[in-house]
Amino acid sequence: MKNFIFHSPTKFVFGKDTENEVGDLLNSYGAKKVLIHYGTGSIKRSGLFDRVVESLNKSNVDFVELGGVVPNPRDDLVYDGIKLCKKENVDFVLAVGGGSAIDSAKAIAAGAKYDGDFWDFYDKKAEIKSALKIGVILTIPAAGSEGSASAVITNTDGMLKRGLYSPHYRPTFSIINPELTYTLPSYQTSAGVVDMMGHIFERYFTNSENTLFVDRLAEGALLSIIEAGKKLIDEPTNYESRSVICWAGTIAHNGFFGVGRQEDWSSHRLEHELSALLDVTHGAGLAVIYPAYMKYTLDNHVKRYKRLAEKVFKIVSKGKTDKEVAEAGIEALEAFYKSINMPIRFSGLNASEKDIPKLVNKLEENVGKSFGHFEKLTLNDARKIYELACQ
Ligand code: NZQ
Ligand code: ZN
Repeated sequence: MKNFIFHSPTKFVFGKDTENEVGDLLNSYGAKKVLIHYGTGSIKRSGLFDRVVESLNKSNVDFVELGGVVPNPRDDLVYDGIKLCKKENVDFVLAVGGGSAIDSAKAIAAGAKYDGDFWDFYDKKAEIKSALKIGVILTIPAAGSEGSASAVITNTDGMLKRGLYSPHYRPTFSIINPELTYTLPSYQTSAGVVDMMGHIFERYFTNSENTLFVDRLAEGALLSIIEAGKKLIDEPTNYESRSVICWAGTIAHNGFFGVGRQEDWSSHRLEHELSALLDVTHGAGLAVIYPAYMKYTLDNHVKRYKRLAEKVFKIVSKGKTDKEVAEAGIEALEAFYKSINMPIRFSGLNASEKDIPKLVNKLEENVGKSFGHFEKLTLNDARKIYELACQ
C-alpha cells in the first residue's frame, strides 16, 4: 500500500424520512440563509420540494431557491446562482437532486466566495481557497458527488466538460433516503449503477502493488451493486436493493477505494467528451466505453482483468488461458450492462464513427496529448478505443 491521507468529513444521514431532518441539520451548522438548488422538476413532481420547505420553515431557516439544473450541468446557471448568493447573503447551498444539481451547487458555493470568474478554477488559473457550506439531499445514486470532493461542469462556450477536485467541495452533510429514488426512470437507475461501478473500476485498474485488502472490498462492492442493479429492473421499489446502491454509490466515489494506490480515470475522460458533445447520460456513455477500453488494454493487463473476471463475474478458469478468462470477464460485463438495458456500443447512444474526430479534438483540449495511469494513452489510442466502441 502506498502512503495516503483519507479525509471524508461529510456527515451522512441515511434512511427513511431523513429528508425531514434537513431543517434541524442546517440549524445545527448555523445556516442563516440557504440556497435550495435543484434540477428540472422531479423534486416538485414527487413532493420532495414541499417537504424540504416545510422542514426549513419549521426550523426557522430562511431560504431562496434556484431550479433548472440540467443533466451535464452548465456554467450559465452557476453564474446565476453565484449572483443570487452574493445578493442574498447566502451562507449554505443545499442541493436537492443528483450529481448535476450537486455539482452545480458546489461550483456556486466556490464562486460565491470568489471575486473573479468561477471558471478560473476549472481553467487552473486560480485555486479554490474557500466555499460556502454545501448540503445534499440525494435523489439518484450514481455520481457519488454527495461524498466526493469533485464537481463536473460544462462551459457552454466551446462545450468543455471539466471536472475539478477540491477539499472545499466535500459536502458538510448528505441526506440519503433510498425511498426518494423510487421515482427514478429505470434508465437513470441503470446508468447510475454503471457509473458507480465505474468509480470502482477507475481505482481497481491500477499498477500499484500490495492492494489486495482494498481490491477484495472493491470486488465485494461490485458484486453487491450488480446483484441490486439486476433486482431493481423488476422491483424498482425494493428498499434493500435501493439501499445497497445508494450507499455503494456513495462509498464508490468518496475516495475509500482509492487509498494506497494510483488511480486511473482514462475511461471517465473518454466518456466526458461524449456527454459534452452529444449530451448523453454519463453512465450510459460509460457502459459503451469500459468494454472498449478493457479490450484495447487487455494484452498489457491480463492479470488484473482475469482477477476481475474470476472474483466478480465468477468465470471458471479451468481449461482456459489467462487471456481467455479475462476476455470472458469483459463479455460478462457487457452482458450485465445489456441485462440492465444499457447500451454497449456507440449506436446505442446515437453516436457514430463520424463523431470520433470531434471527440478526439475536445479530448486534446481538455487533457493534452496523453492521459491515464493504468495504461498511458495517446490521442491515437483514444481514437482506437472510440472506434472499438463503434463495432
Ligand atoms: O432534473 P430532474 O428533474 O431532477 O431529473 C433528473 C435528471 O433528468 C432525474 N432524477 C434525479 N432524481 C430523480 C430523477 N427523476 C425522478 N426521480 C428522482 N428521484 O435524473 C436525471 C439525471 O440526474 P443527474 O443529476 O444528471 O444524474 P447523475 O447523478 O448521474 O449526475 C450526472 C452528472 O454528474 C457528473 C456527470 O458527469 C454528470 O454531469 N459526475 C460527477 C461526479 C462528481 N461530482 O464526483 C463524478 C461522476 O463521475 C460524474 O462525472
Ligand atoms: Zn462517473
